[in-house]
Amino acid sequence: MAKICLCMTANTLGRNLEILEKYRKYADMAELRADCLDPDERLLIRRFPEQAGMPVILTIRRDIDGGHFVGGEGARISLMARGLAYAEADRRRNFAYVDIEEDLNISSLEEAARTFGTRIIRSYHNMKGTDADLPVKIRSMRRSGDEIVKVAVMANSTRDVLELLCAGKECEGQEKILVSMGHFGIYSRILSEQFGSFLSYCGALSEPDAFSAAPGQVEVRELANLYRFRNITKATKVYGVTGYPLKATSSPSFFNTVFELEESNAVYVPFPADSITDLMEISKELNVEGLSVTVPYKEAIIPFLDFQSDEVRVIGACNTLTLTPQGWLGTNTDARGFSDSLLTFLNKPNFKRQRVTVIGAGGAARSVVFELHRLGAKVLILNRTVHKARRLAAPYKFAWGGLDEQGIEKMEKYRDIIIQTTSAGMEGINPDNVSSDPTAMYNFCGREEVMDLVYKPKMTAFLKRASNAGCNVQNGYDMLIRQARYQYTQFTGKEFPEHFFSRVQFGEI
Ligand code: ATR
Repeated sequence: MAKICLCMTANTLGRNLEILEKYRKYADMAELRADCLDPDERLLIRRFPEQAGMPVILTIRRDIDGGHFVGGEGARISLMARGLAYAEADRRRNFAYVDIEEDLNISSLEEAARTFGTRIIRSYHNMKGTDADLPVKIRSMRRSGDEIVKVAVMANSTRDVLELLCAGKECEGQEKILVSMGHFGIYSRILSEQFGSFLSYCGALSEPDAFSAAPGQVEVRELANLYRFRNITKATKVYGVTGYPLKATSSPSFFNTVFELEESNAVYVPFPADSITDLMEISKELNVEGLSVTVPYKEAIIPFLDFQSDEVRVIGACNTLTLTPQGWLGTNTDARGFSDSLLTFLNKPNFKRQRVTVIGAGGAARSVVFELHRLGAKVLILNRTVHKARRLAAPYKFAWGGLDEQGIEKMEKYRDIIIQTTSAGMEGINPDNVSSDPTAMYNFCGREEVMDLVYKPKMTAFLKRASNAGCNVQNGYDMLIRQARYQYTQFTGKEFPEHFFSRVQFGEI
């Protein structure tokens, strides 16, 4: 089973030991990054394995490989020799592994390591990109049978991650460590078993003086507790969420908590993707069984479906993919998540006799309008780009308009409920967006029921204004959870375990 390796990047050995003590139960081994140590401390590395009390990798990373060692090669090699010198008969007192770059040819170091049972990790780093000839590289790097090949390459795209994954598969059976660095490669650090990696490097990233030893590292507790890394085997069912840029997502927290409570052998990971085509290839290689699909792929995913629900066909957007014996089934849980949430908020069984304004005409609005129509509402759709409002309204014979004076006037007759579906007001887009309110020209009378699909921040400028005018308001958080419960059922074929609901976490909302 793949191991969790905690990278020790503090500037003193004492501080590294303190950190190791605090996180000991989450780690199987440690990597002493001696290049991060103060110069005086580097002289004392030899005793670290004994003090650490777990297998330790000695690494002295050069700056060209993303490390901090800026001295000459001579100084670096003598430091490495210092780490391997005076080997003890009790192997636990020696470094268990030493990281030697593939272009370093110092046979005396290697001999010393082998004589005393220190295994060699033969490493290659590319901090800029992913090499084209990875399978050849992986095969040729190993100089003797007991070496572990490490290839850590920067993923600038989803295709890069796919290259690494396929290269790993070509070299199955060989002990190796494969890492796609950076945001695109985050799941290569969680699904080490699937990538054929012997370990995953992670960091004590919540410590103020510890930093990520390489781009994209996962925090050690998150790897051990949230993703239950140690339980992941080739038999583990893999699920995930894809989107772009997918910088922050609360879905892994939700699904992994439920899987843990249910004792399911399953994991749910983020799949940031700049190409949905490449991501679907990766899904195939990793035997992914279910995908949540988010911005901007809810429409682009449709050509990849083997069959789809009626909602997907009519709405033209899909947020849930489930692998079935007949291929990918596409469904849309946003629609039901939305109507369940709003009807519960209103304490109504349907939207009959309700006159509703929908702000926006994008993908989210399409699910909302579909449900409003299904459940009997009369609807006005207002959008910044008017022709999109008209196009969305036409099949339902709903009213439409622009987000201008004329459009806002029409709201007079459609204001039992107002639903904001655009990304205006959402955090994480640009600093100005948070203060934006697409209905700024509209004066709330205080009797409207108001919903914003945005849930970060909890109160958008739009919701604040409505609330100050005396309206009942609701954000999109409850909808998010409800659609995720439907996804759970879709993925697993099981009802969502409601008795666990109070214990399920949805990230830092
Ligand atoms: P989603 O799937 O989240 O709905 P989308 O399909 O890209 O995303 O649609 C975005 C919606 O938000 C559109 O209705 C867009 O209006 P335009 O069609 O005029 O682009 C709307 N939108 C985004 N930012 C907006 C803003 N600052 N003010 C008003 N509308 C905005």
